[in-house]
Amino acid sequence: MARKKVAILISGRGSNMRALIEACAAKSYPARIVAVVSNRPEAPGLDIARQRGLEAVAIDHTKFASRAAFESALDEILRAAGTQIICNAGFMRLLSGGFVRKWHNRHLNIHPSLLPAYKGLHTHERVLEDGVRITGCTVHFVRTEMDAGPIVAQAAVPVCAGDTPESLAARVLAAEHRIYPHALELVASGAARVRDEKVILRQSGAAPDTLFWPRP
Ligand code: GRF
Repeated sequence: MARKKVAILISGRGSNMRALIEACAAKSYPARIVAVVSNRPEAPGLDIARQRGLEAVAIDHTKFASRAAFESALDEILRAAGTQIICNAGFMRLLSGGFVRKWHNRHLNIHPSLLPAYKGLHTHERVLEDGVRITGCTVHFVRTEMDAGPIVAQAAVPVCAGDTPESLAARVLAAEHRIYPHALELVASGAARVRDEKVILRQSGAAPDTLFWPRP
């Protein structure tokens, strides 16, 4: 089966992007990367992608007169690259309904919490403030509502005594780097599909296993 063509959207350091690039290096992996796009020209992830021989472009959203103009330029780049699946990887720009609908069920995002808990920014600070014992990360299909949409994979991550937002973020990030390649594999291979706004696995009809990492 032909490998699905993936574009990765970033805004910053690009560590999740790197995890996806590494997964795509395996010939047996059902996806390959055709483009990396950042809305911030200074994003360190752009250089990481270029060093790995990938086409990486910046389109600075501040240079566009409107959100619609930025999104239509973005859409054009993605289509020119032959994109079949978009992966947001630390992409910090909200996309409007028009764009989101065009890429319905072909557009993934990663968020550093166990959604639907802790949508939005500063998740780790809020988790610590609430005294939550288990947090995690989620890969989900993108919908118009921010940090919402059918869940493909999640990892649960313990909150440890003495954690700071930074130490917790680092533990969650390590789990992100494991579940994103796993989730993209499920989607690109066709094993994961959306039915009634939930993700089901083709073979079993069951929800994908929850990943626990580090393993209990
Ligand atoms: C990750 O924690 C991701 O979940 C969130 O932003 C961060 C991006 O990190 N959306 P990186 O750019 O992938 O290193």
